[in-house]
Amino acid sequence: MVEFITLLNNSKAPFVVNMFPLIFNGENHWDPEFAFIDNNSNITIHDDNGLVYKNVFEFIYDSFLHAIKKAGGGPNVELTVGQIGWPTDGYPGATSANAERFFKYLLPFVKSNKGTPLRPGISIEVYIHTLVDENLHKIKLGAFRRHWGVYNNNGQPKYKIDFSGQGRDMYPTSAKGVVLMPKRWCVFNGNTTNQTLVQQMFDLACQEADCTSLSPGGSCHHLNYVQNVSYAFNRFYQNKAQYNNKVFLCEFGGLGKVVPDDPSVGTCKFPIEILTAEIADTKGMINMAGHRLSGYWTVLLLSLLLIIGIYM
Ligand SMILES: *[C@@H]1O[C@H](CO)[C@@H](O)[C@H](O)[C@H]1NC(C)=O
Ligand SMILES: *[C@@H]1O[C@H](CO)[C@@H](O)[C@H](O)[C@H]1NC(C)=O
Ligand SMILES: *[C@@H]1O[C@H](CO)[C@@H](O)[C@H](O)[C@H]1NC(C)=O
Ligand SMILES: *[C@@H]1O[C@H](CO)[C@@H](O)[C@H](O)[C@H]1NC(C)=O
Ligand SMILES: *[C@@H]1O[C@H](CO)[C@@H](O)[C@H](O)[C@H]1NC(C)=O
Ligand SMILES: *[C@@H]1O[C@H](CO)[C@@H](O)[C@H](O)[C@H]1NC(C)=O
Repeated sequence: MVEFITLLNNSKAPFVVNMFPLIFNGENHWDPEFAFIDNNSNITIHDDNGLVYKNVFEFIYDSFLHAIKKAGGGPNVELTVGQIGWPTDGYPGATSANAERFFKYLLPFVKSNKGTPLRPGISIEVYIHTLVDENLHKIKLGAFRRHWGVYNNNGQPKYKIDFSGQGRDMYPTSAKGVVLMPKRWCVFNGNTTNQTLVQQMFDLACQEADCTSLSPGGSCHHLNYVQNVSYAFNRFYQNKAQYNNKVFLCEFGGLGKVVPDDPSVGTCKFPIEILTAEIADTKGMINMAGHRLSGYWTVLLLSLLLIIGIYM
């Protein structure tokens, strides 16, 4: 690390840190309020030099500055936040309302160039993690990893955020021309005669599709078992684009049925996916269609970035 810091110091390249306040706080079992920037936390951290920390951002940021200095890097070494975000599902406190509040205070704070207790007045470069949810993200380190997006993968913003840092009460622009699949859902018909079969079908569906919202802290964790199975069936069905090469995908050993009414349960949404994108996902990202369509996604994301850029 000392060698690395020397290199950065002498080349004037930034040190890049990734910071996930909700998770950091959660893993430390700290007051959830400490993760926000609006300083309502009942914990305050006083360091040996009389500096006071009331939020996790400044605490982590200055901890890194301190460590970099100890390793021989001076004010030369700029500390950039390469990723900062707030997931909206799959972890306690991961909600759109909390993400909105987090960014509502973070972005104006960054824009104000107030700096931190250790380096007041410096300008801090911050990159938001991420633009959209990724429903194929690996989840070994947590279900929340599929839910970092400011946008749902249908191109709609999940919450209000003013990317210009002026703290205005506004939604960012939404993606245009997104086509959803037909309004129909696949649910469990409730036949629990063979429990083994039901569990087998549930596991099968969740192996392929995104069931992260069912996990503890998730938006669908309150479902009962039958609703759980329905949720899994529907995710699979939508993920496979409802029909795949004319094969009916709500079979599940005779346990599935298609319904015309939205079976969402309170905060737990049973989504319908985007037409083209989900067809691309049926064979992962490796087949030819996948390549073409991930190109389509790149274009969509770049357009979004451009639109956001214009607003800034
Ligand atoms: C701080 O607040 C949290 C909830 O936000 C609460 O669980 C905890 O008991 C509080 N601690 C103190 C010392 O007040
Ligand atoms: C929170 O406190 C820090 C100082 O620790 C200050 O820089 C920041 O502006 C405060 N944020 C708000 C929203 O008051
Ligand atoms: C860091 O850079 C400063 C100014 O260029 C230099 O004086 C100092 O010796 C450097 N530190 C290390 C550890 O290379
Ligand atoms: C329920 O499932 C069992 C086998 O799992 C099947 O034998 C039975 O016919 C089903 N009942 C209904 C009403 O479909
Ligand atoms: C229940 O389902 C399992 C798994 O498909 C199957 O192996 C088993 O034979 C079924 N049991 C009955 C009584 O049909
Ligand atoms: C629903 O599924 C999730 C994820 O597998 C599990 O954590 C939860 O306990 C299940 N709920 C019920 C009521 O079975």
